[in-house]
Parts: sequence; structure tokens; C-alpha cells
Amino acid sequence: MKEAKASGLEGVVAAQTALSHVDGERGELIIAGAQVEKLAGSQRFEQVCATLWRVPEVDLGPARVWAAGRLSSLGQALEHANGMDALRAAVAQLPSDIDALKVTGAVAVFGAAWARRRQGLQAIAPDARLTHAADTLRMVTGAAAEQPLVDALDTYLVAVIDHGMNASTFTARVIASTQSDLVSSVTGAIGALKGPLHGGAPGPVLDMLDAVEVPEQATAWLEKEIAAGRRIMGMGHRIYRVRDPRASVLETAVERLERAGVTSRRLALARAVERAATQVLAKRYPDRGLQANVEFYTAVLLDTVGLPRELFSPLFAMGRMAGWCAHVAEQRATGRLIRPDSEYVGPMPASSDPLPPSQGEGH
Ligand code: COA
Repeated sequence: MKEAKASGLEGVVAAQTALSHVDGERGELIIAGAQVEKLAGSQRFEQVCATLWRVPEVDLGPARVWAAGRLSSLGQALEHANGMDALRAAVAQLPSDIDALKVTGAVAVFGAAWARRRQGLQAIAPDARLTHAADTLRMVTGAAAEQPLVDALDTYLVAVIDHGMNASTFTARVIASTQSDLVSSVTGAIGALKGPLHGGAPGPVLDMLDAVEVPEQATAWLEKEIAAGRRIMGMGHRIYRVRDPRASVLETAVERLERAGVTSRRLALARAVERAATQVLAKRYPDRGLQANVEFYTAVLLDTVGLPRELFSPLFAMGRMAGWCAHVAEQRATGRLIRPDSEYVGPMPASSDPLPPSQGEGH
């Protein structure tokens, strides 16, 4: 193991899991036995939830309806300017004994209600007959979504549903390992996902594309960012040394949308910026293999679907919620209290300092 001060726990196996596996050298993501390329785009979000939760089938419609009934009791939660702050506050108010179904339904209802509130609009009641992706889009936009858009969002939700021992999943498992409840576990996970090094990157990817404006300016813009010590959002990964397979899944989903007549305003620019960023980062970190991660094409896909960039991280939470819930169940079933050590580097008491008498007599 690396020295604790530098490691970020990389290389440390924190749990055994049958849920997903990330092979960073080969660029492979396996979710409960299937490659992500096989699942995303061919199975609906509900089907993959059922696989992860080990139940015959999942219907999130009643859970969305249940969650909508709680909107009026969320207080100021949805008034946060940041969508992840709003989700964290709203989910934290759910009863602590609810199950995976309810919390997964709730996060979509709360995210959509937050997005509408930002525009001064009323929340839209869920339609339990629709698929989760279709109803999520409807609750955000206020209109029934066309099938290619629904399929694209479904592909996205499945692509991000689970991903090994990422920071937010680890957070959820740490909380679950204390025998705390599901709502506490996923509330903590939302907090971990919010950060720009994890799930906070896709909005800034779009900001970057806007700042670059045209492919010809990409290299100069990126070099300036690197020179200023800033990270290029949507590039690099703790585990992958090659392109994140989810980047390809999502890029393909954008191409599918284009074939269905939905034009992406940013796909061509994104591809040019990705090429330039790969080159700039390879020059600066020749041994590292910093390539596009999931967030790069998340930004392009969700933008093409017509969703606002402020909702990108909450949408990530909506997909990943299913994985968090599965990990909480697995941790409860198979895990122990997660309690690592630390290396103390603070001052030690001088050996000549005597203990106060009451503490030196065996109490
Ligand atoms: N842009 C610029 N530099 C980057 C970079 C990026 N996207 N990703 C890594 N680096 C740099 C690091 O700063 C580090 O440089 P240093 O040695 O000079 O400090 C070096 O490359 C090695 O970093 P690495 O060990 O690969 O990073 P990590 O494993 O700690 O971090 C990420 C992984 C994902 C946090 C990191 O790649 C990153 O910040 N990416 C941008 C944010 C992002 O897209 N997040 C979503 C992740 S799915």
C-alpha cells in the first residue's frame, strides 16, 4: 500500500462485491455479469435495477407517486440554488426506514421538482404508467417526451447505475457498515457525488465547450488551463488508463439520437476538444493515460436530450441511486464495520509529562 498521505486508498480492496467490476487497463465495466455496452441501450433502467436488487421486476411508478405526495413536506429543501444541495436536503427528510424502490423513485421526483422550481414552475405529478426515464423527462420538461429522447436518457441512467468502489458508493457502504439506515447512507453518497472530481464534472464540461467555442481554439485553451494548474473536466480517471467505456456508450447514444433526427449542437466540438485534450494531457503526463471519462459525453448526451446543465449532477444521482441501494444491501449482508487506520503525524507528549493521577491508575 502507498503511504497514506498520498494514496487516496488506491489499490486498497475495501469490499467484495458481486455488483460491478471495473478493469482500468482494459477499459471494461461489468455490471452484474454483463458488459455495460450490452446493458446500456438495450435494457431499461428498471430492468437493471431489478438485476442489482435481486428481485424479479421493478416498477418505479408507484414509488414516484408516493414521493410526489411528500413534496409538500420538504420545507425549504428544494429552494437550494444547487441541485445536489437540494437533493441532499430533500432525500435527508425521507423516513429512514424506506426501501430502495421508494428512494430511487423519490430522487427523480425531487430532482424534477427542483428543476421546475428554478424556472418558477409548479412540479408536475408523476404518471405511474410511464417508464422511469419517460416520466423523469416529462416531469422536468412538462411535456411527453419523444421515444428517442426517452431511450437516450434510459441509456444514460443504465450507463451510470454502478461503478465499483467509487467515492460515493464507498461513502454509502461506510455509513451502512455502521448499521445505519438506507436514507442516511444515500444522503451521504449524494454529498460525495456532488464534488467536481466525481459527479460534479458534466456541467463544467459543457462550460468548457462553450468557452472553447470552435475546434481550432481547443488546444490553446486547454494548454492555458493546464498552465494555470486547472484540471480538464471530463478527462482522466482514478482507475481507467484508457478511455472510459461509458464515454463510448454515451457517444454512441448521441449518434443514435442524431440518426433519429435530434441534432446535437455540440457533438462535433466535443470530439475535437476530446482529441485535443487527450494530446495535451499525454504531453503533460506521458505515463498516466488521461482520457475521456463518463462525464465528457454525459454532458453532450444530456444537452442533446434538452436537459439543463444544472440538472446533470442530480441526474447522475438518479441513476447511481440504484447502485448505492444495492451496495447498502450487500454491505449489510456481507460486510463488517469499515474502520480504517490513520497514520498519526501530530506531536507526541513528552515522555517526562506525568499523567494526572486519576487517569494513571487503571480507569
Ligand atoms: N486535467 C488535468 N490534469 C489532470 C487531470 C485532468 N483532468 N486528471 C489528472 N490530472 C493530473 C493530476 O493533477 C496529477 O498531476 P500532478 O501529479 O501534477 O498533481 C496527475 O494528472 C495524475 O493524476 P491522477 O493520479 O490520475 O488523478 P486522480 O486519480 O487523483 O484523479 C480524477 C482522478 C478523475 C479526479 C482526475 O482525473 C480529475 O480531476 N479529472 C477531472 C474531473 C473529472 O472529470 N471528474 C469526473 C470523474 S468520473
